[in-house]
Amino acid sequence: MIPRKTILPFAKPDISDEEIAKVKEVLLSGWLTTGKITEQFEETIKNFTKSKHAIVLNSATAGLHLALRSLNVNAGDAVIVPAFTFTATAEVVFRCNGIPLLVDVDRDSYLITEKTIMDFIDKYCEFRKNQLMHLPTKTIIKGIICVHYGGRVCDIDSLKNLAKKYNLFLGEDAAHAFGSMYKNKMIGSLTDFTVFSFYATKNITTGEGGAITTNHQDIAKKIRRMRLHGFDIETYKRKKNVYDVISEGYKYNLSDVLSAIGIVQLKRNPEMLLKRKFIHQYYQNQFKNLTGLKLNPEYEGSSYHLYTIEVPNRDKFANILKEQGIQTSIHFKPLYKMTYYKNKKLYSIQDYSNCEAIFKKILSLPIYSAMSEEDIQDVVDAVNFAYENLHQKKNQKKFVLPFLSHK
Ligand SMILES: Cc1ncc(COP(=O)(O)O)c(C=O)c1O
Repeated sequence: MIPRKTILPFAKPDISDEEIAKVKEVLLSGWLTTGKITEQFEETIKNFTKSKHAIVLNSATAGLHLALRSLNVNAGDAVIVPAFTFTATAEVVFRCNGIPLLVDVDRDSYLITEKTIMDFIDKYCEFRKNQLMHLPTKTIIKGIICVHYGGRVCDIDSLKNLAKKYNLFLGEDAAHAFGSMYKNKMIGSLTDFTVFSFYATKNITTGEGGAITTNHQDIAKKIRRMRLHGFDIETYKRKKNVYDVISEGYKYNLSDVLSAIGIVQLKRNPEMLLKRKFIHQYYQNQFKNLTGLKLNPEYEGSSYHLYTIEVPNRDKFANILKEQGIQTSIHFKPLYKMTYYKNKKLYSIQDYSNCEAIFKKILSLPIYSAMSEEDIQDVVDAVNFAYENLHQKKNQKKFVLPFLSHK
């Protein structure tokens, strides 16, 4: 196989002339920070997700942090999150001085489920006086943040029942899942809060950015205030030159320049999503005969943010793809394996048999709307090449010269 002349990046934003024109318009408008354009972006997210409130922020991490602060997660509290996620899902719990309790994920879907959470609760928790206590840390579990890994939505109904039973909030880290559906409903208004990411690699992007949607007015009000220093009124709405600071606050607002990109990206989302879906299906078809490979799980309503395979000899496989000019990535190294988390001495590897098995083999291939047909075919050819290469080598018997065979 002849390698590509240029490297195919693992991810690349899909930016058209329309985003450029809209940004130019804002740059020339005289107002660059949070203002009317951001308000417009929030309105379109609200309509798209059919939620009552949408607040845009400078990252999904900020959204997760503010969600926990609005729900009063403090020292002595804990929040259940999957172990198989990006650090942001859990780091925000530490930022509130609480403890993230890492739970194993389902072996097939890579999502947390009622079963994986219940296994954890049965082993480590006690429900008393309407509070769920984590016995080893003596913390009170306040809620669950589920993660819609790769764009596949967790089973919201069963998680909601579980949350209700144990008096917990339920929120969604939907950083991968803008445009994902659950039982034919757009996500964004199904639980206490949903957080989206508009980071550069995400399904729709503003370079850096995020949003939180919720149907709870009190949560929305607190978050809107906290995203800009706890001001009583947002800068662009201020009529007087004296303002008050009325709550805890952060600098998590999104600028109008970035919101301008978001408005156009959201409009183009259906077209970009179709392309991702096409690539997903094409890969599924092309790889179906590669025995020994576990392909990306099929899921009705996915937004196809990731395309993963599980492959033996993953690192060698990834190296061959790299030599062929195809960049790959790994989502995720489980959090209990990260130095910072390990040093906390809170997690025990025996609790994560599924994460362990997945992490050994998982590899993410490029899947994004800016890929050309040649790019897509190059990935397929490189995967086939790597598969044949490793498979054949594995099946080759070591050739031993007869006169040396006595050694
Ligand atoms: C599952 C998950 N949650 C949260 C985040 C954080 O998103 P952001 O970079 O917008 O803060 C990411 C980012 O990749 C992610 O993958």
